[in-house]
Order: sequence, then C-alpha cells, then structure tokens
Amino acid sequence: MSPEAWLPQPTLFLTGLTLLLSLAPPRLGMEVMAPATINALNGSSVKLSCTFNSCYKVENKQFSLNWTYQECSNCSEELFLQFRTKIMNKQLDRFGNRVEFTGNPAKYDVSFTLKNVQLEDEGTYNCYVLNPPDRHRGHGKISLKVLTKEPPKHDSTVAVIVGASVGGFLAVVILVLMVVKCVRRKKQQRLNTDDQKTEEEGKTDGEGNPDEGTK
Ligand SMILES: *[C@@H]1O[C@H](CO)[C@@H](O)[C@H](O)[C@H]1NC(C)=O
Ligand SMILES: *[C@@H]1O[C@H](CO)[C@@H](O)[C@H](O)[C@H]1NC(C)=O
Ligand SMILES: *[C@@H]1O[C@H](CO)[C@@H](O)[C@H](O)[C@H]1NC(C)=O
Repeated sequence: MSPEAWLPQPTLFLTGLTLLLSLAPPRLGMEVMAPATINALNGSSVKLSCTFNSCYKVENKQFSLNWTYQECSNCSEELFLQFRTKIMNKQLDRFGNRVEFTGNPAKYDVSFTLKNVQLEDEGTYNCYVLNPPDRHRGHGKISLKVLTKEPPKHDSTVAVIVGASVGGFLAVVILVLMVVKCVRRKKQQRLNTDDQKTEEEGKTDGEGNPDEGTK
C-alpha cells in the first residue's frame, strides 16, 4: 500500500531526515556549492568551481547563469560570463581572453578557469544560477587570493585534509536534503492521482493483495 515501500526503514529514515531538514535554513531554493576562498599562485591557471543542485534537468532555453567580479566589497559587480541559451564570454578588458568556461550545465557544473592569474585578479567572484522551474536563484561566492610564492607544504596538507572532510560531510548533508526535497515534491505532485488510485484499489482488493508493491 505505502508508496514509500521501496525505502529501507521508511519511518526511521524519514524521521532522521525531517530532523535534519528542520535544522536547515527555511529557504531551500537551490543549493550552490563553491569554495569560500581559493588561493592561486601568480601566473598559474586556477579553476573557480561552482556547482549546484536542482530537482530539475537543465534546459538550455530556460537556464540562466551569471558570473560577476567584484574588486572590493563596495565595488559594483562586473558581469564577465553569462549563460543565456548558450555560454557567452563578455571579454572584459580586465581578464582579456584568460577566462575559459570549463563547466557543464547539464551536469550542474558552471565552473570556469582563469588562466595566467594576476595580482589584480584578487577579489570576489559571484556565481548566480537559475534553473526554472526552480524559482529561487542560487548564489555562490568565491574570494580569490593571489599568492606570489608557494605556501609552505607541511601545514597545507593538514588544512587540505581537514577541509576535505568538512567539505565532504557538508556535501553529503546537502545531497540528503536535496533528495528529501525532491522526493517530497514529487510525492506532492502524485498526491491527487494517488487518491484516485486508492479508491479504485479499494474495490478490487477483496481477494487480498499478494503482489503489493509491484509495478
Ligand atoms: C607575477 O608573475 C608575473 C609573470 O607571470 C611576473 O612578471 C610578476 O613579477 C609576478 N609578480 C609578483 C609580485 O611576483
Ligand atoms: C563603502 O561605501 C560607503 C558609501 O557608499 C562609504 O561610506 C564607505 O567608506 C565605503 N567603504 C569602503 C571600504 O570603501
Ligand atoms: C543574469 O543577468 C541578467 C541581466 O543581465 C538577468 O536578467 C538574469 O536574471 C540574471 N540571471 C541570474 C541567474 O542571476
């Protein structure tokens, strides 16, 4: 009978997730994942990574992406990369031809690579995505720091390990939240049709139901 028959331990599972969900911020529009800070060596190429989650497949006609650069927290945002039915490089003088889109919207990845990093490239990089019919716009924010020499190796290893495990944990939590949200949404959509089905099943259910759960 239960539409959730395919979930293991449905009650326990859903209780745990509901708890997690209630701890999360209320506006679970679109989750955008981007590192808060990226350090890049002067003259190197660096990938500014931005990915997102959505319940919906990306349709090129509707999907919208804006990458903007902000030199200081007070400065206005300069649009340098945009997706509007296709990727468009705004070729800002500031970046010349050093910006290359290296993401794949179909895989929820809108990262780009900045080549030959200059000291003047320091600042904030904003990634905005909108994937209708998701109504909320997602926003990721990366602060780029440009280094002129390699940082000492020994402490960065620990930092990477700690960062990776914290990041991994967050990614799992976010993934779980998304699954719950999408399952809920789909369930909501099915509610009406399910009500009708239940009525019909009730009529033919007299002989017991040996094949419960098969489709
Ligand atoms: C950064 O690298 C460029 C060459 O890629 C070099 O000319 C410049 O001096 C470097 N700047 C610093 C501060 O190291
Ligand atoms: C930001 O702008 C406000 C006015 O718009 C100004 O008072 C403030 O000093 C500025 N801050 C910085 C860090 O430039
Ligand atoms: C990107 O910017 C355009 C205006 O230049 C705006 O219409 C669009 O909604 C923006 N998209 C996102 C995802 O912010």
